[in-house]
Amino acid sequence: MATRLVLEDVSLQFGGIQVLQDVSLEVEPGTVLGLVGPNGAGKTSLFNCISGHYRPTSGAIRLDDVDALALPPSRLAEAGLARTFQHPALQLSATVLENVLLGAHSRLPGGPIAWSLRLPGTRRAEREAREEAEELLERFGLAWATHRRPEELSHGLHKGIELCRAMLSRPSLLLLDEPAAGLSHGEVEQFIDSVRRLRDEGEVTVVVVEHHMGVISAVTDKVVVLDNGRELMAGTAEEARNDPRVIEAYLGVSA
Ligand SMILES: Nc1ncnc2c1ncn2[C@@H]1O[C@H](COP(=O)(O)OP(=O)(O)O)[C@@H](O)[C@H]1O
Ligand SMILES: [Mg+2]
Repeated sequence: MATRLVLEDVSLQFGGIQVLQDVSLEVEPGTVLGLVGPNGAGKTSLFNCISGHYRPTSGAIRLDDVDALALPPSRLAEAGLARTFQHPALQLSATVLENVLLGAHSRLPGGPIAWSLRLPGTRRAEREAREEAEELLERFGLAWATHRRPEELSHGLHKGIELCRAMLSRPSLLLLDEPAAGLSHGEVEQFIDSVRRLRDEGEVTVVVVEHHMGVISAVTDKVVVLDNGRELMAGTAEEARNDPRVIEAYLGVSA
């Protein structure tokens, strides 16, 4: 079941810097929200607040009825949250399949100790996770790379591998941080296709940070624009593109 994500007046300070100020938003289950705004607007910091890596100075974050601020990142992952990073950190010398399999940890029985001891119950789960990982790689056009190593592959492919890893946890809430940055034209099309399919299936709520407005228009139901840690506007991608305040924030000049 896809998650309803609610943020109420989330603020975040580091030292004297106000990184986020009173950000509120609501993402309906199974929809795709685009989070856009210039560099330094606070988009990644907002993701870090949702995933439990940063602690907001004030405000509330809920995943359905779960108080996200009461849980550490590992428990939020068990509650269905998965994310990809602006700068993917893969195990470069492990295989692509092994990297994707890391995404299964939050949902497999027994935890890492049972896994490392290879207890009987974990073997079947491991086999199933492997099959599912292979299906995901196939689905995201990466089957050919299953046994390659990330160190031999392009940055764009790293983003795809990370997405497969996130999907293997069967998330109900997926946060994607600049997934299309550095992708080739063909990879961008593939990515758009994948997110649209996820939305059609309705099993996961997605929040995507992206500068590529073509991607934002193609995949989002709604857009929130951040500037200097505050919400500048909320609406459709089309409305955001045409909003003079948004144009000004991006270009740094009056439109
Ligand atoms: N851990 C941190 N310590 C201090 N400042 C931070 C930290 N994380 C983010 N910031 C500051 O927060 C602001 C927003 O950064 P970020 O969330 O990365 O923006 P965006 O993802 O929109 O480009 C920047 O000024 C950045 O320097
Ligand atoms: Mg960022």
